[in-house]
Amino acid sequence: MKKYPETPDFVGLNAPVCEEYSLKNLEVEGEIPADVCGAFFRAVPDPAFPPMFDDDTALSGDGMVSRLYFGADGTVDFDIRYVQTARHTAEVEAGKALFGRYRNPFTDDPSVKGVDRTVANTTPVWHAGRLLMTKEDGRAYEMNPHTLETIGSYDFDGALKSETMTAHVRIDPDTKEMFFFGYEADGLASTKVSYCIADKDGKLIREQWFDVPYCSMMHDFVMTENYALFPVYPTTSDLERLKAGGDHWVHHMDLDSWVGIMPRYGDVSEMRWFRGPKGVSTYHMMNAFEDSEGRVHMDHNMSECNAFPFIQRASGLNVPSQELGGGLIRWTMDMNGGDEKLTQATLGPPGDMPRVADADQGRPYQRGWYLSVNPELQGPPLMGGVVGAEFNLLLRIEPGSGRIDSYAFPPLWGIGEPVHVPASQDGHEGWLISIVDQQIGENEFAHAAWIFDAGNVTVGPVAKVTIPHRLRPQVHGWWVPRGELEKSKRK
Ligand SMILES: [Fe+2]
Repeated sequence: MKKYPETPDFVGLNAPVCEEYSLKNLEVEGEIPADVCGAFFRAVPDPAFPPMFDDDTALSGDGMVSRLYFGADGTVDFDIRYVQTARHTAEVEAGKALFGRYRNPFTDDPSVKGVDRTVANTTPVWHAGRLLMTKEDGRAYEMNPHTLETIGSYDFDGALKSETMTAHVRIDPDTKEMFFFGYEADGLASTKVSYCIADKDGKLIREQWFDVPYCSMMHDFVMTENYALFPVYPTTSDLERLKAGGDHWVHHMDLDSWVGIMPRYGDVSEMRWFRGPKGVSTYHMMNAFEDSEGRVHMDHNMSECNAFPFIQRASGLNVPSQELGGGLIRWTMDMNGGDEKLTQATLGPPGDMPRVADADQGRPYQRGWYLSVNPELQGPPLMGGVVGAEFNLLLRIEPGSGRIDSYAFPPLWGIGEPVHVPASQDGHEGWLISIVDQQIGENEFAHAAWIFDAGNVTVGPVAKVTIPHRLRPQVHGWWVPRGELEKSKRK
C-alpha cells in the first residue's frame, strides 16, 4: 500500500492519526471554573489515505470533528469522528485517495468527476442550534452535536445558491444573525462572491452576489454594527493554470490588496473599495468597529507575504516565517471621505488565530487574544501544523492602551487557537481554552487542554485536562455552552 509522504505535512505532530475514538472522564489538574460547562468543538484535518501527490498539504486532510465536553459535574470527555463527506465516503469505498491536488479537480481520478471535493476541515460553526463543519471551498456539512454523526451537505433548506461558504462566519451579538460569504461562488477561479445573512433561527433571509477586483483567497471577513467588510489579498487563482494541473493559489507581491465595505443590510451596488498595500496577506481579522467620526477600523493579523510554505513554493517565493513581518495591524477607512485611501497602524507583534469575546463582535473592544512566537525561545519550536511550526506565545492585547500581556511556552511546546468562554461574574474577562502540545520523544507527543483566566494569562493555566491519545493539530474551534447545546435541532 502507498505510504504517507515523509514531508513536514505528514510527519511528527502532523503524522496522520486516522482514528475515531472516545475517551471518558479525563484526568484534571487544578480546578475547572464553573463557567466552563459545555462543548469545545474542534476541526481537525486528518488524511484517511496517503495522498495521490506527495507534495500535498496538510490542508487537504479529511475533516474530523472533535468535541471536548465539560460536564456540570466536573467531568471531561473527548470524542472525535470523521465528517462523512462525499469525498471521504468515495475514498473509503475505494480504499485509497481519489482526489488530487489541493483544490484542483482536474487532477482527480476520473471516477470521482463531479463529486463534492470539500473536506469540511476548517471550523465547526454553531448557529441557531445547528453544528456545521465548514471549509471555504464548498458548502458546509451539518453534524449531530451529540453523536458527531454526519447529517449531510447543508444548503439552508435549499435556499443557498452559492456553491461555497466561508469557514469564518460572523454572528451579531445582539440580533444573533449569522453573516457569511462565499468566494468562487459559482466555480473555480471566479470573481463572484456571495454575501448572505441567516436570521437568528438559521433561515437564509438574504443572498447577494458581487465581483471582487480579482479572484482572491478570501479566508475571513468582518462586520461592524452598520457595515460588512470584505478584505481581498493578492493570493489568486487562475482557471488555465488549474486545467494544466497546477496550483490553486499563487501569491503576487506586486498586486494591491483591497477592502470592500458596504452597509451590512444594504445592496452590493453600494460597495466602496479601499486600496491597501501591495503583496500583503492576512488569514484572520480580530475585529472591526466604527468610531464617532464615521471611520471604520479593522484589526487583522497581517504579514508582508503569504505565510503558507506550499503557496510560497507555487509562487516562486521563499520567505521564512521569522521574516514575514507585519503584525496585528489596524486599517482605518473614512466613510465620509470620497477616496480609496486607508491608513495603517501597528497594534501588536506578528501572530495569528485572533479571538475576541462574542459580545464584542463588531463593536469597539477593550481586549483581544491571539497567538504568536516566543521571542526569547531558547531552543527549537514544536514543528507541526500548516505553517511549519506551532505558535508558542499566548497574547492578551488591549488595542486602546497598547498593553500586551503574554504567556510563553518553552522549546518543543505549542499552543492551538483558544476559544473564549464568557464569565458569569461581572467584570471578569472569561476563560480561554486551548489544546497544548509537547514533544516528549523523537516521535512522541503529549497533549492537554489548558484553561486560562482570560484577564490574567501571565500566571498560566488554572486547570489542565490531560488527553491521553495522539492528537493531530486542529485548525479552528468553537465554544458552545451547555444551555445552547440543549437547544440543538438534533437529538
Ligand atoms: Fe481560518
